[in-house]
Amino acid sequence: MAIVSASILAANLAHLSEEVKRVQELIDEIHLDVMDGHFVPNLTFGFPMIEALRTFTNMPIDAHLMVTNPTELIKGFVEKGATRITVHQEVCYHLHRTVEYIKSFGAEAFVAINPATPLSTLDEILPYVDGILVMTVNPGFSGQKFIPTMLDKIKRLNDIRKGRELNFKIAVDGGVGNENAVELVRAGVDILVMGYGVFRNPRLPELRREILNASGQ
Ligand code: DX5
Ligand code: ZN
Repeated sequence: MAIVSASILAANLAHLSEEVKRVQELIDEIHLDVMDGHFVPNLTFGFPMIEALRTFTNMPIDAHLMVTNPTELIKGFVEKGATRITVHQEVCYHLHRTVEYIKSFGAEAFVAINPATPLSTLDEILPYVDGILVMTVNPGFSGQKFIPTMLDKIKRLNDIRKGRELNFKIAVDGGVGNENAVELVRAGVDILVMGYGVFRNPRLPELRREILNASGQ
């Protein structure tokens, strides 16, 4: 069954706890975009934000580390309540070591790839990960447009998963919402990360039903 991961980057941060409560029946987990102003051209959240989230929610939290030094932050994010750590392939020199390090803390280990990063760069790591996060926009901001060729990339990743009989999850992040969520679920996506699609979408209840229906097919 496909699940909805709510990216709080698109929430009204002046009222974060109310925002999460407003959508909590329609989401499955929280997605925390950690940006350093170096790997991506934006600065966002650090440890104080996950600590704040943990004061009002027990939902699983994915820390999506868009930073040049993710390994240094992994232990801290898990200790403060992250249940999954997502690191980018592009900045991990020793990706296998990093994935094993994440798992050693009992968290799920996901690897993300940017739109221009080929699937072939994941060949050797696939048997070790809990999931792959396919970026469908260039990371840095909420509210960008889904890059259309990424649908085929997801289908190819799903084919690789079947062909190699692996069971990692496929997550998608960027420009996901009313227009494309169902198609993405049918293409094999397990986790739909949505910012605008959750917090700025009056159709969220309908979209949620559509996602559940598509998951059953
Ligand atoms: C982009 C972030 C995303 C972003 C998604 O760099 O990784 O998680 O917040 O926002 P939407 O769904 O609005 O594109
Ligand atoms: Zn993200």
